[in-house]
Amino acid sequence: MTAAASSPDPIARPAEDDLRFALMDLALSYLFPAALRAAAALGVADHLADGPRPVAELAGAVGADPLNLHRVLRLLATRGIFTEDDAGRFALTPSAELLRTDVPSSFAPAVLMITDTTFWRPAGELEETVRTGRTPFDRLFGMPFFEHFARDPETAAVFHVGMASMSDPENPVVARAFDLPPDATVVDVGGGHGGLLLSVLREHPDARGVLFDQPHVLAGHRLGELGADDRWDLAEGDFFTEAPPGDAYLLKRILHDWDDEHALRILRQCRRAVSDRGRVLVVDAVVPPGNDPDPGKVIDLLMMSSFTGRERTRADFDALFARAGFRLTRVLPTDTRLSIVEGVPAT
Ligand SMILES: C[S@@+](CC[C@H](N)C(=O)[O-])C[C@H]1O[C@@H](n2cnc3c(N)ncnc32)[C@H](O)[C@@H]1O
Repeated sequence: MTAAASSPDPIARPAEDDLRFALMDLALSYLFPAALRAAAALGVADHLADGPRPVAELAGAVGADPLNLHRVLRLLATRGIFTEDDAGRFALTPSAELLRTDVPSSFAPAVLMITDTTFWRPAGELEETVRTGRTPFDRLFGMPFFEHFARDPETAAVFHVGMASMSDPENPVVARAFDLPPDATVVDVGGGHGGLLLSVLREHPDARGVLFDQPHVLAGHRLGELGADDRWDLAEGDFFTEAPPGDAYLLKRILHDWDDEHALRILRQCRRAVSDRGRVLVVDAVVPPGNDPDPGKVIDLLMMSSFTGRERTRADFDALFARAGFRLTRVLPTDTRLSIVEGVPAT
């Protein structure tokens, strides 16, 4: 029994280490992403780019209620996102700086994607997902995830620009973490706007690249950033039914979107198309055993609630690769939250 429950004094405060406080903090913790989303959606950081501002002035600039804006920023400041000085002026911190939309490394689109209603609402229905084994996404939005994000360019941008922003810090690190056969053709399967392929081509000067995704996604590709370097092609298509020929198949944050049957269909298309000297490089979280915290265990629940997918263990990848005709050769850690699971065609 806890100190509070056993206390003879009815007005005695429970001990600070009462585990109910920890549970209460955990239960309330969804208000931090709610506040973060509000600040990102209002564009608060952009309006602090020139220096600290009193909250009333800031509220006028972003079109917000001053009292409520103050309450949101005060909470975020407890996590080092914005800071308030003694005169009641708010300023950027290094984390808040990343919420500016006019900086190259802007993380605002990632925050807005991760806290978008398409993730938020299904996560709120997690009990249903756990009971039924199915995502509530189609019920809530009337169609599966990727169809929803193909509706119109504005809706598509929320996810695909958000994914690009989330992937930006990872791409150069991942691109450095693997080697390639000489003069390899690298196919980035579901490569989105091409941020990873850009890094791969910069890192591997003798490689060629193919960015493979849906037509409406390829329309926003960034490979033009390579300038005169034209070692790339676009390939529109459906990764469940086809894959362009190549020597290395990158699948970054692809298999985790899908259940095993769909993941197998994607891998089998890669297996069919891969050259004899080729390999598959799956870039995903690899969930470790045990009770320690791991980011993969968190994103896993997004894959459960908004998609039909899952994060996998090494053993899961081993089994999946074998069924698709690949042999898992190694798991390369990267200095990101993702690992590279390498497979070669099984003989
Ligand atoms: C989670 S995003 C990953 C994007 C990118 N690889 C990254 O890590 O930033 C999944 C990608 O799969 C693409 N995709 C979904 N269904 C597809 C299909 N049937 N055929 C080809 N690409 C598809 C999406 O358009 C999206 O770019």
